[in-house]
Amino acid sequence: MPKARSVFLCTECGGEAYRWQGQCPQCGAWNTLVEERVRPVPAAERLDRGQARDVRAVSLSEVEGVERPRWGIGLAELDFVLGGGVVPGSLVLLGGEPGIGKSTLLLQVSARLAAAGHKVLYVSGEESAYQVKLRAQRIPEPTDDVLMLPETSAEAVLDRVEELEPDVLVIDSIQTLYTERLEGAPGSVAQVREVAGALQRVAKRREMATFLVGHVTKEGGIAGPKTLEHIVDVVLYFESPTGLDHRIVRGTKNRFGAADEIALFRMGAVGLQPVENPSALFLQGRQDRASGSAVVAALEGTRPVLVEVQALVNRSVYSSPQRVATGFDGRRLALLLAVLERRARLRTSDLDVFLNVVGGLRLSEPAADLAVVAAIASAIRDVVLSPGAVFVGEVGLGGEIRPVHQIERRLAEAGRLGFRRAFLAESSDVAGKGFPLRLEGVADVKGLIDGLFG
Ligand code: TYD
Ligand code: MG
Repeated sequence: MPKARSVFLCTECGGEAYRWQGQCPQCGAWNTLVEERVRPVPAAERLDRGQARDVRAVSLSEVEGVERPRWGIGLAELDFVLGGGVVPGSLVLLGGEPGIGKSTLLLQVSARLAAAGHKVLYVSGEESAYQVKLRAQRIPEPTDDVLMLPETSAEAVLDRVEELEPDVLVIDSIQTLYTERLEGAPGSVAQVREVAGALQRVAKRREMATFLVGHVTKEGGIAGPKTLEHIVDVVLYFESPTGLDHRIVRGTKNRFGAADEIALFRMGAVGLQPVENPSALFLQGRQDRASGSAVVAALEGTRPVLVEVQALVNRSVYSSPQRVATGFDGRRLALLLAVLERRARLRTSDLDVFLNVVGGLRLSEPAADLAVVAAIASAIRDVVLSPGAVFVGEVGLGGEIRPVHQIERRLAEAGRLGFRRAFLAESSDVAGKGFPLRLEGVADVKGLIDGLFG
């Protein structure tokens, strides 16, 4: 067996260096090299030593162009984020903080796919079979047909896969699996890279849908090398937007569908339930009798959601006033305040301004500008905005309001939820489209303020 040696691996890109350096020689990231002991693995001894494959190149005309059937999981929200079900042979990485519900979700997925006639192998490296059984008793789906394997050895898992030939493999979690071929501890860069690479080759060869649970770091990224996210086909993050029972599964990469869709669930006494009406969720408990509140018809992925933006202003006692934004970019807020002061003659420079996007969402599209401006203006004037009004539009430095994409879908959703007036860019391309809302086109922030407060 070749001798183990010490290498320095980059936690960002997985690149190697032979001595410690402050900067990764491959991707240029700083302070990302960690020392690990590795033993070189001859190709013949690779972890997924499987069958020698006789592969040949084919012309594209020989490739069957039919779309692979997807396996619908039946949790509507999750199928939606995946792009219409899970694709056989694909690798799906699910990241999230401890206790957020990763194991619960994947056990529900396992039970549903097993009930649909697929053979499912659930590998738990974190919990005993008994602990998984306790969880299984809580969720509504019957789990009798799910095969359970408490195991942390990658070799053992791959052997069982060859023997049982499952259609679906769940690894909970990738950080607990280790291969004896490498010296690093489970979860180290080299281990995760090697094990995930082997799983990927096996999944493709066997057409086996594979779900990997990934732990997250303090910064919120998935622990282990960035290469993990490159290896897999789909990356999903599990988040808790409100800190309450709601959970968001957010796609950040999807080789088989739109990348940044979200799914909403509620964690209850009996597992995770899809939320039927996502856009209404963020309006729950809305205080529409207070000034400083405005609703934006935002887009999450391809889906419209209505979100409340709240602003609070106060005479500042400091020479440089405070500006605090939650769920919105702080520099964008500063920009919009400057535009309000210069273009609409609304004095903001001696005010502390607090901005909050309700429900824990993050509004990063410029389409939210108009609602932010409206909320701040309403707070400054201390005048309540009409509760049936919704705002969509980008604000330019000249104070002009610009149209945004997908305006029809946003307006349709607002109308569906009972909104009756929509403030949007005058130049928006919606003329004569018969929406159930009164459209109030505005040219600039001055026009908006005049329109709102007369
Ligand atoms: P879990 O799936 O173990 O989280 P993760 O794998 O991400 O660490 O879920 C943990 C929490 O969910 C735990 O605090 C218990 C709670 N829970 C419920 O509220 N309802 C349920 O039906 C289940 C199974 C768990
Ligand atoms: Mg877990």
